[in-house]
Amino acid sequence: MPHTVVGIVGSYRKHGTIDTAVSAVLKAAAENGATTQKIYLQDHTIEFCTNCRHCLQVPDRGECPLKDDMAALLDQIEAADALVLGAPVNFGNVNALTRKFLERTVCYGYWPWETKAPGMDRKPTKTAVLITSSAAPGLLARWLTGAMKALKDLARMLGAKPIGTLWLGMIDPKDSGLSQRQQRQVKQLGRKLAIA
Ligand SMILES: Cc1cc2nc3c(=O)[nH]c(=O)nc-3n(C[C@H](O)[C@H](O)[C@H](O)COP(=O)(O)O)c2cc1C
Repeated sequence: MPHTVVGIVGSYRKHGTIDTAVSAVLKAAAENGATTQKIYLQDHTIEFCTNCRHCLQVPDRGECPLKDDMAALLDQIEAADALVLGAPVNFGNVNALTRKFLERTVCYGYWPWETKAPGMDRKPTKTAVLITSSAAPGLLARWLTGAMKALKDLARMLGAKPIGTLWLGMIDPKDSGLSQRQQRQVKQLGRKLAIA
């Protein structure tokens, strides 16, 4: 069975830097035999978590009382073998849409009312490539922002082990094209996801 790789675009800009990079990794995965799907978070209704913690009372994925697109998105993600998670840096961390999505993945946690700390960490069953972008140079932003840590948290909550990261620094808002080096990187990352 070919691997199914799902790309999640947390950016607000279709055809922007993150969309371009996520799409390029998906294309490379497809060239290596994978079936690919792309989710634009902005195209789905995702409500803010209300901190009710109802979903945290069971060890597996807990039910969320909010009725929106989240359950269907998580079904689609659970069925995948690998993920590409992409989000831009806004104010030193992932953008609000990605953070909103991340908070809703709390349904995979387990923290019963009577306990003082969360009880369970999900064992990864899939692989992930994490992509972020910033106006600042990549090295500096990697050091000074929390974006990659947030994407790692997202991968963990979705049951995925990161097998590669890509940081697109000093992005040009008018030109979302990848450099030759970045094109080589996305090809390698896509291949890794398709066969891992
Ligand atoms: C509201 C806002 C906040 C931003 N904050 C930062 C920041 O803290 N550091 C940084 O390097 N770039 C920052 N940027 C630049 C974005 O990271 C950049 O526009 C983004 O990576 C482009 O991705 P996209 O093409 O997918 O939209 C910010 C941009 C906006 C609009």
